[in-house]
Amino acid sequence: MRLIHRRAVLASPLALAAAPPAFNSLALNQRARKRGLFFGTAVNHETITNDRHYLDRIDAESGIVVGEAQFKWADIHPEPDRYDFTRADALMAFAARHKLRVRGHTLVWHEAIPDWLRPALTPDTAEAILRGHIRAVTRHFAGRMVHWDVANEVIQPDDKQPLDLRATPWLNALGPAYLDIAFAEAATCDPAALRVLNEFGTDYPLPWQERKRAALLKLLADLTSRQVPVQAVGLQAHLDAAEPIDQKILSKFVTDIAAMGLKIIVTELDVRDQRLPGSIEVRDIAIAAHAKAWLDPVLACPAVLGVLTWGLSDRHSWLNDTFPRDDKLDQRPLPLDAALERKPLWQAIAAALDAAPVR
Ligand code: G3I
Repeated sequence: MRLIHRRAVLASPLALAAAPPAFNSLALNQRARKRGLFFGTAVNHETITNDRHYLDRIDAESGIVVGEAQFKWADIHPEPDRYDFTRADALMAFAARHKLRVRGHTLVWHEAIPDWLRPALTPDTAEAILRGHIRAVTRHFAGRMVHWDVANEVIQPDDKQPLDLRATPWLNALGPAYLDIAFAEAATCDPAALRVLNEFGTDYPLPWQERKRAALLKLLADLTSRQVPVQAVGLQAHLDAAEPIDQKILSKFVTDIAAMGLKIIVTELDVRDQRLPGSIEVRDIAIAAHAKAWLDPVLACPAVLGVLTWGLSDRHSWLNDTFPRDDKLDQRPLPLDAALERKPLWQAIAAALDAAPVR
């Protein structure tokens, strides 16, 4: 079995480009740092509390972590006048113990919101609620948070709203100005944390993604021209190994973002294998080659600051709940397998980081 796996890896274009590093070779964040980049991962609360071995690997491979849910409204602001920082603070304590930096995700989103919020948002109340939340949360972590995803997933051209914004309770109550308010409040309350607009679905030459890329560029041009204090774009990079990649489109997209003076972070990288055959060897090779093909043109852009994966090990991924495979096999979207061993995807990310120009 092991021999077959090795032969398959060696036969792949990826393996020809970069021989798999030995197990104890440089960790991903060490490789990233050599290029002036960072590497990190999302961590959920269950891992923080229950999985010491997984945490050891996160500590070994990462320089930065982000809460998979711990900083969202649903976790942190369960009632109008009550904040609960318990889970978020547990992540901050883990990060402080291991000298990991932390990025915050997210201050404004239409998902993971507590039950009280949606009915409470009216044109008269929404601005004070939004400012109050951002003030309380950013001040709680001020000085300890290196980035904030101030706004998450705000583009949806199909909703036919101004600026191709998504129809959310925030847009409904405040119009597009909700973004101005959110970025301004974050800038006032924690000016040192990089302010990020985080988006998904901008990775492929698919018509709906072409529309999203165009809409995102148009929105960024609008915000920057009006001095709304957005500083960076988060590309989630929830990739799908069955899609074709167009590297020219990706290069142009990141170049266009950078030309507006904005930084770029790859914020939630993982590779879905729902439409691939069941064979682990086949999937791992396809996933690795896919990630490398996506990362190469993106990391070539000097505006890119770093890469985070949405989890480090296949022990836990949102993809198994949200996009289950027909054969019920677990997906293999992350750099380490469920036994916490490095996989071809780890090798692909390592090779992409090694190939990135020095910042
Ligand atoms: O809060 C309960 C907790 O009390 C309980 O113990 C636990 C048991 O399963 O469930 C907890 O809530 C879950 C939460 O994650 C924390 O684990 C929610 O049911 C679940 O819906 C939630 O899912 C997260 C989702 O965002 C919504 O917040 C996923 O883990 C997380 O991977 C996903 O992340 C999003 C990014 O924020 C934005 N980009 C897409 C990405 C994937 O959907």
